[in-house]
Formats: sequence, C-alpha cells, structure tokens
Amino acid sequence: MSHFAGASFLKEIDFTPAELTYLIDFASHLKTLKANHIPHPYLQGKNIALLFEKTSTRTRSAFTVAANDLGAHPEFLGKNDIQFGKKESVIDTAKVLGSMFDGIEFRGFSQQTVEQLAEYSGVPVWNGLTDDWHPTQMIADFLTLKEHFGHLAGLTLTYVGDGRNNMANSLLVTSAMLGVNIHIGAPTQLQPDPKVVKLAQGYADQTGSNILITDDPLAAVAQADALYTDVWVSMGEQVDYGARIKQLLPFQINAALLAQTGKDETIIMHCLPALHDHQTEVGAALGEKYHLPAIEITDEVFNGSKSVVFTEAANRMPAIKAIMAVSLGNLFIPETLFK
Ligand code: CP
Ligand code: NVA
Repeated sequence: MSHFAGASFLKEIDFTPAELTYLIDFASHLKTLKANHIPHPYLQGKNIALLFEKTSTRTRSAFTVAANDLGAHPEFLGKNDIQFGKKESVIDTAKVLGSMFDGIEFRGFSQQTVEQLAEYSGVPVWNGLTDDWHPTQMIADFLTLKEHFGHLAGLTLTYVGDGRNNMANSLLVTSAMLGVNIHIGAPTQLQPDPKVVKLAQGYADQTGSNILITDDPLAAVAQADALYTDVWVSMGEQVDYGARIKQLLPFQINAALLAQTGKDETIIMHCLPALHDHQTEVGAALGEKYHLPAIEITDEVFNGSKSVVFTEAANRMPAIKAIMAVSLGNLFIPETLFK
C-alpha cells in the first residue's frame, strides 16, 4: 500500500512530487463528487481534532466541512478552550488526543509543535499552518493553477512580498517540486532563508523548475503566469508596520505591476485574508495612518477579472478532504503509481 496510509502532512517534502500531484488530482475528483452530490464517506465513524493556536477562517471551515462530508466528526479545540500550552505540554497533549481522536489538525506558531504532535500522538497530524509552512494551502493553490491552465510543469509563478514567511517558503519548495518556475520578489532583508532556497533548488535540479530570487519587482514579475502575494505582516510577527510598508510598497500587486508581466493572461492569487481596502479594522487603521487605499494588493486587482482568489479559497476544502482521506480512509492506492 502507499506511503499515504497513516501518514502525517507536516510540510510539503513529507510527500514526493508524484504524491503531491496525486493529492491535487484526488482533490479535483472529490470536488467533482461533491458538485454532483455523490457521497464519499471515507472516514465514517472517525473523530478529528482541530487544534488552533492562531485564528483562521478558511482552514478551520475547510477541515470542518471536509470532515463532515467524509463522515467524520470534527471537534474544534481552540487554544483558550483547552489546557494546551498553559498547563499541559505538547507531548502530553499529543498522547491524550491520540488516544481519543483518529487524526489531528494543528495550526500554530512553531513547526516543532506540529512535529511533536505527530511523533507522540500516534495518529496522522496535518499542518494547518505554522510559522514555517502552509502545506494544505499548497494542494489548493496548485489545484487552482492546474484547473486554470490545464497543467503545472513549465508555468511561472511569481510571489511578491514577505519572502521569508510560511507562504513564500511553501510556494518556493512546492513550485520546485512540481516543475513550476518560481520567482520571489522581495527586498534583500525579506528574502527566503538560504536553507529553504537550497532545499527548493535540490528539487528544481530534478524537475527543471527555474528559481529566481530578486529585489527587482519588474524582474520578478516578468513572464509570470500567476502573480501571488500574502499579507506583509504575518500572524504572531512583532514588527513595525510602517517600516514593513516602506520596504514592501514597491512589491504591491497593482495594475501597474500586473501590466509588467509581458503576458495577457496572468492570474492573481492570494491565500487570504487580504488587506485590499478599508473594510477591515486593520486595513482601515493602516490605510488612514499611511495614506494608502490598500496594502499588499489594490482592490481593483484583487476584485478584477484576472483574480482567482476566491476559487483558491473554495479549493481549500476538497484539498483538505483529499489529505485526510488518503491518510485515514483505507483507500487502495498502489505504491506502483508513484514509481
Ligand atoms: N489561507 C488561510 O489559511 O486562511 P485562514 O487563515 O482563514 O485559515
Ligand atoms: N503569512 C500569513 C498566512 C495566512 C494564511 C500568516 O501566517 O499570517
């Protein structure tokens, strides 16, 4: 049987490129089943813990709905609801949750926490985002790209913004694994950790993906089939917003930058949530203080005809469903598929 059975998904490299491709295609299949009202209760009778140290809209909703559709019972365990961290260690929590639940989703700060949960719980653990990686988002994002372009290998994806955050890390490594050219446009101080670049380059050498890391926004967006950005300050980061805005303003996705890709059909991606107008507390406060109508992406582009951001968000659900189903669903997936 395949390496999927009982497997955790803690970071992209836990699976091979062929396995990531299988997850993307299986997510697409599950999306079609749902659209056609065909039941797919692969996890009937299973219980899933949803452990959140950080807030979430999409990831929490996607795990909840995916678990229900699969016939499992999801249980939300917010960090303020349980003993975790304050009165009970990660290891003790892992042992307890693993004795009752069949699988655990974790969203939080340290990658070490999710690794420890997997090591000590004895059940599959899925990383719903840490400071380092956002692997479930990758299945949804590359599904979105594949749906739009019909293929992945040879596409060029440009990420502009904070090049050292979880999204940049995940997009860099996943693109390299799947043969997608990846450009990261970020000021020198916010470029990816050399360890992450080295990891990605190892895959790129095998798949033919080209990696470009540059502080020149125009060089970054050249030939991009997709332009991607994320918030300029991530959850848990303690930085001066004004300084960050000053550093990243040249990398804002706006109509002028989009016009520089040299391609007519460049699509716009964002993992969300996004500060594209003043309709949020943070967006309004920053916008007024720094005299900006938008932060990392203008409203015109965010809501423009090239934007696939809400398709990406919707794809989180079938992506997460595929991930849980392959780990826990007793599916017949022959190992020979991946040879
Ligand atoms: N993209 C994403 O992970 O969204 P949430 O933070 O709302 O889960
Ligand atoms: N980089 C962002 C991603 C949110 C989905 C954060 O960690 O806050």
